[in-house]
Amino acid sequence: MAVFYYKPDEDTFLLMDATFKVIREKKTIILGEIGCGSGEAIIQLSEKAPLVLAFATDRNIYACRIAKDRIRSASDPNIQVIASNLADCFRPLGNGSILTFNPPYLPENSEEDALLHTNEVIAFVGGKQGWETGFRLASDALTRLRVPAVVIFSTIAISKEKCLEKLSNFGQVRIIARKKLSFEELFAIYVEPFDSKWEST
Ligand SMILES: C[S@@+](CC[C@H](N)C(=O)[O-])C[C@H]1O[C@@H](n2cnc3c(N)ncnc32)[C@H](O)[C@@H]1O
Repeated sequence: MAVFYYKPDEDTFLLMDATFKVIREKKTIILGEIGCGSGEAIIQLSEKAPLVLAFATDRNIYACRIAKDRIRSASDPNIQVIASNLADCFRPLGNGSILTFNPPYLPENSEEDALLHTNEVIAFVGGKQGWETGFRLASDALTRLRVPAVVIFSTIAISKEKCLEKLSNFGQVRIIARKKLSFEELFAIYVEPFDSKWEST
């Protein structure tokens, strides 16, 4: 079970659609995917978008290996994979860069989580309430890295209104895509620093 990594699902495709929407609207040349899992999103996005650089990170080393192998056989193999906690491996990337993240977004459940392998908990559980990991990346993007980011959240963990309210303390925030599932709604948040000088296409 040490070999667990997250396989593409509804949230993966929501992340891809939302990120591609931003890439089309803004002149994007550098894309960093945080928590890349299998690498599906970064591979598809870098095949579709005219990027100069693409990076992918994951905290799960096994996911990094899988993503690396898949990237090697993809049509655009120029994607760097870095084992990292969130975006800690990045310095400010400058205009034209965005980060994208489909984080773990379920709330902690000590009894159920105890039955899972560590890499499963890392993939599914986003913190005590579930939104904390995605929120940490969004606020790091806005305050330290000063780049826009696309981040997925679930209504299981936080309402859309509360999420917008909390993140709007750090930058401009809007919902750019949604997906209703049986027990939850997934939504993609786009955040941008207040003083961003980024050009639209
Ligand atoms: C819901 S899965 C999404 C995987 C993939 N991006 C996708 O959409 O199919 C969340 C991913 O984030 C990774 N992850 C969780 N916490 C992380 C952290 N602090 N830093 C980097 N990656 C993390 C997990 O290992 C997992 O691969």
